[in-house]
Parts: sequence; C-alpha cells; structure tokens
Amino acid sequence: MSEPLETIKFSAEEAGRIVRQSYGAIVPQGMGVAKSLYDPDEIAWLPVSVTMYALGLGNPIRYANLQPGETVLDVGCGAGIDTFIAARKVGPTSRVIGLDMTPEMLERARANQKILGLTNVEFRAGKMEQIPLEDTSVDVIISNGVINLSAEKGQTFRELYRVLKPGGRLVFSDSVVNGQLPRSVLDSEAAFAG
Ligand SMILES: C[S@@+](CC[C@H](N)C(=O)[O-])C[C@H]1O[C@@H](n2cnc3c(N)ncnc32)[C@H](O)[C@@H]1O
Repeated sequence: MSEPLETIKFSAEEAGRIVRQSYGAIVPQGMGVAKSLYDPDEIAWLPVSVTMYALGLGNPIRYANLQPGETVLDVGCGAGIDTFIAARKVGPTSRVIGLDMTPEMLERARANQKILGLTNVEFRAGKMEQIPLEDTSVDVIISNGVINLSAEKGQTFRELYRVLKPGGRLVFSDSVVNGQLPRSVLDSEAAFAG
C-alpha cells in the first residue's frame, strides 16, 4: 500500500491571510493569461482593467452551457472576468454573483462593473467556505483557479453543493497535483498563493 501524500499544513486562518496579502497586492499581469484562455470575441468588449487581471487557469464558461435566465455564482471572481462573460451570456433578466474574500479584488470588480454598466451583476464579499447565499439558490457555479486556495476543501464542496439547486451545475478550472510535492514547496506561502 502506498504512503498517504503529505499536504499543506496552513490553517484556514493562515490560508486566508496569505490569500488576502497576495491578491490584495497583485499588479496587472499583461494580456498573456486572457489571450491564452479566452477566444478573442469573448474578451474584445472588456476593458484592460478586467483582462489584465485575468488570473485563472482555464475557461470554465466554455463548458458550463449557460442559458438565458440562469442564476450564476462565480466563486473567487477576482476582478470579474468570468463574472462579466457569464453576465453577457445569461442576459439582463438573470443574476450573476461574483464572490471574493479579498477587498482589493472586489473593489476592482465593482469599478469594472461601473465601466461596463452591467445591471445583472452583483459582487459579494465572502469566503467559499461560508458562502453568503441561501440553500438551493444557484443554477450554475463557475470557478477559475480558486478552489486550490482553500485550506478546507471538504467544507468548500459542501458549501458549493448547499447553494446549488437540484440538478444544478458546478464547472471549475483548477490545478491538480499528481504525486508528492516536496515539503519546501508545501510549506511555501508563495507557492500556495500561486
Ligand atoms: C487566482 S485568482 C482567480 C481570479 C478569477 N477567478 C480569475 O479567473 O481571474 C483567485 C481569487 O480567489 C480569491 N479567493 C481565494 N481564496 C478564497 C476564499 N477562500 N474565498 C473566496 N475567495 C477566495 C482571491 O481573492 C482571488 O481573487
């Protein structure tokens, strides 16, 4: 039988502090991430204050089959790139909620919403481990490069399933480790924050 893999030892509080510090201080990344993850027509309408803060690892919306009228939750929305793309897809009569725990990211996301004039979007402060939404209130959850940042993944998945409606969809992009990382990497705050 193989040995169980060693994992991170950050507590939920430590993980929260690392995330807030790292993502609170993040600077514009250039267009590289946005251009590599999205089709040109998905992002052409977005200002650079959105696209230069694309920090995801994939394009969950491509697989989410979003339909007009659906309520969508973007977990760890950052500056809002997937929130805004989802809002355009589901249309003005639906509701898209961006959730993030880093105040500076929410400030950017809200400023971007003003620029775009989208009325079907709202940004909420909160953690994916305690989502500030009612049970069975969301049709689709998307998340891009975020769940790996939870020190309590079991609790996070319980919360995601709690807020999803029966038959709802969860589509996320994230990093997966296949094998044992060295202790020096597991203990590194910079590696944890990505
Ligand atoms: C790698 S960025 C991805 C941002 C965005 N999804 C994108 O694709 O650009 C991770 C985001 O998740 C947020 N985050 C990390 N841990 C979180 C948690 N426990 N609850 C809510 N948001 C979290 C961070 O503040 C940051 O904005």
